[in-house]
Amino acid sequence: MLTKEQVLEALKDVKDPEINRGLVELNMIRNIQIDGSRVSLDVILTISGCPLKAKIEDDVVNALKALGASDVNLRFGSMTDEERAALSAQLRGQTNQVHNMAPGQGPLNKILSPESKTTFIAITSGKGGVGKSTVTVNLAVSLARLGKKVGIIDADIYGFSVPDMMDINQRPTVIGELILPVDKFGVKVMSMGFFVEDNSPIIWRGPMLGKMLRNFFTEVHWGEELDYLLLDLPPGTGDVALDVHTMIPQSKEIIVTTPHATAAFVAARAGAMAVRTGHQILGVVENMAWYETKDGDKEYLFGRGGGGKLAETLASELLAQIPLGQPENHPAEPDYSPSVYKQDSAIGQLYMDLAKTVDAKCK
Ligand SMILES: Nc1ncnc2c1ncn2[C@@H]1O[C@H](COP(=O)(O)OP(=O)(O)OP(=O)(O)O)[C@@H](O)[C@H]1O
Ligand SMILES: [Mg+2]
Repeated sequence: MLTKEQVLEALKDVKDPEINRGLVELNMIRNIQIDGSRVSLDVILTISGCPLKAKIEDDVVNALKALGASDVNLRFGSMTDEERAALSAQLRGQTNQVHNMAPGQGPLNKILSPESKTTFIAITSGKGGVGKSTVTVNLAVSLARLGKKVGIIDADIYGFSVPDMMDINQRPTVIGELILPVDKFGVKVMSMGFFVEDNSPIIWRGPMLGKMLRNFFTEVHWGEELDYLLLDLPPGTGDVALDVHTMIPQSKEIIVTTPHATAAFVAARAGAMAVRTGHQILGVVENMAWYETKDGDKEYLFGRGGGGKLAETLASELLAQIPLGQPENHPAEPDYSPSVYKQDSAIGQLYMDLAKTVDAKCK
């Protein structure tokens, strides 16, 4: 005969994957009933359409089967508005306690505090369309493939593109005033795109952008401490780039350019801004570096040498050269995304090398 205590003990380590805390601790396991080795219980999810319900179900059933339950019957419910508000307050309160701060005072999120162990990397460029978002997404996924805990903030508030590039169709869970980032390929993602209906344009002015960006740190519950948080910046040296500096002076930067000499010249301005704002430049990624023909010849469609020259100008390093090439992904595949290269593809390998180089440089 199993006991209620045994059941609770067995479920102690089963976590809500989004909040990264135990279901028992979060009071999400209720109404446990035991009949010999048969267990039935209620699982109270944060929201009714919780996208991770199937995972939670598997984890709970597996933990109870391992305990010796012959039959597990789960009933799913969802928290009331009051319960969600209380949970939100509890999660915020715990973060504040770390800093001995009263609720509603000071940095709500540990991630921006001086004790934070998270390395911030902003991906910038002088001009648009050179592949910042592609590099951000693939570097993030590759760092996750190396076993790192990684997040992305799509800081291109007007021109967000990360959700589409990773094929994220899910919206973040919102608990009271807390937002839980969406997990894809092991990367936690936050983007303005999650909050925009029907692809309508964002028409805010500068100060609103900064406020939104700050919300991404203070209102977003990143769960366990991230190793890396990558920021996909809008092109150029505008408001958001300045906001990032003010908010995260410790951020490092990667500058993306195409191999063309003028592109590298423009990118040097982004580099100069990094220098002026005291951000450490990790190095340069030259994207669209060449096109490899079927015969294995390299054609330098967008010129040659820009990345190396930029790295030299900035007294920095050329971290990677990524050739032209689309990911060989098909929409019918279960883990489809239009912009993430598969790990075993040639470009996927280059991104793995980049991730290792970046990780080594940040140690
Ligand atoms: N190496 C590559 N080979 C082929 N296509 C690429 C490569 N890198 C990027 N692209 C494509 O080029 C376009 C621009 O890339 P991306 O959106 O990453 O650039 P960006 O610098 O973030 O642009 P923006 O300044 O608009 O934010 C996208 O359609 C992307 O799929
Ligand atoms: Mg972009």
